[in-house]
Amino acid sequence: MAEIVIVKDKAAAGALVADHIAELVRSNPETVLGLATGSTPLPVYEALRSRLEGVDLSRVRGFALDEYVGIDPAHPESYRSVITREVVEPLGLNPELIRTPDGTPEGIEHHGEEYDEAIRDAGGIDLQILGIGTDGHIGFNEPGSSFSSITRVKTLTEQTRRDNARFFDSIDDVPMHCITQGLGTILRARHIVLLAFGEGKAAAVAGAVEGPLSASLPGSAIQLHPHATIVVDEAAASQLTRSDYYRYAYDNKPEWQGI
Ligand code: GLP
Repeated sequence: MAEIVIVKDKAAAGALVADHIAELVRSNPETVLGLATGSTPLPVYEALRSRLEGVDLSRVRGFALDEYVGIDPAHPESYRSVITREVVEPLGLNPELIRTPDGTPEGIEHHGEEYDEAIRDAGGIDLQILGIGTDGHIGFNEPGSSFSSITRVKTLTEQTRRDNARFFDSIDDVPMHCITQGLGTILRARHIVLLAFGEGKAAAVAGAVEGPLSASLPGSAIQLHPHATIVVDEAAASQLTRSDYYRYAYDNKPEWQGI
């Protein structure tokens, strides 16, 4: 079972996960992080900034989850730009060690395989940070994605394009296609930390954690992972049926286990 940690707010979630990442990098300065975009992981990156004393992130390698296809990498909402602005620069990561899937249309049919190869060459992802879409997608693996999928091109659903329209001038400017780490790629990470906040994510979280394993809810793939940690606030946890047990298990957890 994944471990479900119900925290009081985003700041508490950020602190918990940032403490863990700082510890990881202290023990291995060449840690490989799987980086997620979206608003959800921001409290983690923010909390990490205040934990940099004695933690050198300059040798950390990173792989972003996904990218829009055909977007100019210099566009402020390309995931390359978002990762640079929100993670690489504030945390002092070495940009040369941080990769984003290549969304250039030319040769796109090979970019996915090349990306997974690069992850393998780096020794695999130690910790993959994840958000979840309101329709249960992780990365950009929309409902119907195969649990063994590798990094590849996907067509975004109308709902995801609507959800992400807030970052663009209009929904028409949201790209139609993306290139995303596959569910199979994500499941190869050694540790998955999925975060979710707010009422809007409650159904997706309940489906991912307690629902049947189903490609219709890609987030449910986490149930296949031997080490998955789900960090949610009260609102995102509100549709979980076993939240009392999750709290009880977490409160009584041996300290040495960490997250
Ligand atoms: C996008 C990203 C996902 C992210 C999701 C939720 O679709 N590709 O990785 O999890 O948005 O975004 P937010 O965290 O802003 O709710």
